[in-house]
Amino acid sequence: MDFHHRHFTMETTLRVWIWINFLCSVLVNGQNYNVLNYGAKGDGQTDDSEGFEQAWNDTCGGDGDIKTLLIPSDKTFLLQPTVFQGPCKSSSIKVQLDGVIVAPIDKGAWSNPTSKMWIKFSYVSGLMIVGSGTINGRGLTFWELNLKASQRPTALHISKCDNFRINGITSIDSAKNHISINKCNTVAISNINLFAPETSPNTDGIDISESTNINIFDSTIQTGDDCIAINSGSSNINITGINCGPGHGISIGSLGAGGAEATVSNVQVTHCTFNQTTNGARIKTWLGGQGYARNISFTDITLINTKNPIIIDQQYINKGRLVAEESAVAISNVKYIDFHGTTSNKNAITIKCSETTHCRDVVMDGIDITMADGGKPKVNCQYVDGESSDNDLMRNCFKNNTSTNQ
Ligand SMILES: *[C@@H]1O[C@H](CO)[C@@H](O)[C@H](O)[C@H]1NC(C)=O
Ligand SMILES: *[C@@H]1O[C@H](CO)[C@@H](O)[C@H](O)[C@H]1NC(C)=O
Ligand SMILES: *[C@@H]1O[C@H](CO)[C@@H](O)[C@H](O)[C@H]1NC(C)=O
Ligand SMILES: *[C@@H]1O[C@H](CO)[C@@H](O)[C@H](O)[C@H]1NC(C)=O
Ligand SMILES: *[C@@H]1O[C@H](CO)[C@@H](O)[C@H](O)[C@H]1NC(C)=O
Ligand SMILES: *[C@@H]1O[C@H](CO)[C@@H](O)[C@H](O)[C@H]1NC(C)=O
Repeated sequence: MDFHHRHFTMETTLRVWIWINFLCSVLVNGQNYNVLNYGAKGDGQTDDSEGFEQAWNDTCGGDGDIKTLLIPSDKTFLLQPTVFQGPCKSSSIKVQLDGVIVAPIDKGAWSNPTSKMWIKFSYVSGLMIVGSGTINGRGLTFWELNLKASQRPTALHISKCDNFRINGITSIDSAKNHISINKCNTVAISNINLFAPETSPNTDGIDISESTNINIFDSTIQTGDDCIAINSGSSNINITGINCGPGHGISIGSLGAGGAEATVSNVQVTHCTFNQTTNGARIKTWLGGQGYARNISFTDITLINTKNPIIIDQQYINKGRLVAEESAVAISNVKYIDFHGTTSNKNAITIKCSETTHCRDVVMDGIDITMADGGKPKVNCQYVDGESSDNDLMRNCFKNNTSTNQ
């Protein structure tokens, strides 16, 4: 082959390769629907809601492969409470969030000030929300009004989804929860940042309810309430690599309010840090409730000045109200393995269970928690059956050795 011929061949090959790549990107990435092409201005002042809605209608209504709603970078979009409603024609919808979305400047500027959600996705299967963008709920004016939690909106509410993924984005200053996941199956949440002031009320990071097969990993949550809260109807939850704090820790419950039947099972929390949080690993159930919280483990937990690193309250009751103890949400098979670090509280471990129901099969091993001054904290246990290889814990916590591997 002479030089020219070879050169020609290489060039043709290159062209074909570029052409194939172009075709692939069209076929595989599908079509982009950029909100700027639907009248959204992205100047932070103009109400961009209608542009978003139109772009969504086209994204959701178009068939073919992956459809992408594009929210471009270097722009700030003002969005009123909006529902992104499915089902969509495509089985895979991507929201590429690279810009900033802000809520109206204060509560009075909301088109619907009583809305329970700001940004809601419902019945969208195969939804991905990805990118380097930010949503800013501008919660300050809601917090200042001292409104009840029920009168403040969740920033991002995902309901009735399956195969949902969220990666990369940041949420700041949500009026209530940053993200809530309800009635979803198969969810992956990763590399996200959730920020709100330590003093902001009810700003849970991620709330999960009635959902299964959830993976949450490698994220930073600094907020005013629970970093992650797992509520009734949830199972198969895997949480790993979460940097939590300030905040109220990772919490199961509260479950069983008003005598309700609650179920939570198969929750695995590994390799998380609680940095100056009020609670670390918490399970909270109301007296009088029914159902169960079982097969829950917290492993490899780093504590930095955590107030209550391990806490179970199976006797949760309304302030000042005493309920005759008839039932309790049953708590069993709970493991705390390898907790290391510091606590700010003398009573670092509290496991307060119900007299009739007891907490069963609780295992604590490798618990190495010290006070700031190097002292050993106290352990308070009531009606706990369980096992530990630590003699102090056995003496102070487990009156009844329920180890099954005897
Ligand atoms: C989007 O679609 C919904 C449902 O079909 C319709 O009610 C709404 O008017 C559409 N919005 C816009 C901005 O086209
Ligand atoms: C939990 O998530 C981590 C990180 O994604 C993964 O490595 C691990 O396999 C998961 N465990 C289960 C039981 O799914
Ligand atoms: C307990 O939960 C883990 C995942 O967290 C799961 O792999 C295991 O099968 C569950 N065990 C039972 C008995 O359900
Ligand atoms: C814990 O939080 C403090 C204060 O926000 C911060 O300076 C520190 O880097 C954090 N430590 C870790 C290990 O994340
Ligand atoms: C110890 O545990 C067993 C099995 O859970 C239970 O039947 C028994 O009543 C418990 N005993 C005490 C003294 O709590
Ligand atoms: C509890 O049971 C385990 C396993 O049989 C045993 O090794 C341990 O010594 C027991 N602890 C107490 C305090 O009875």
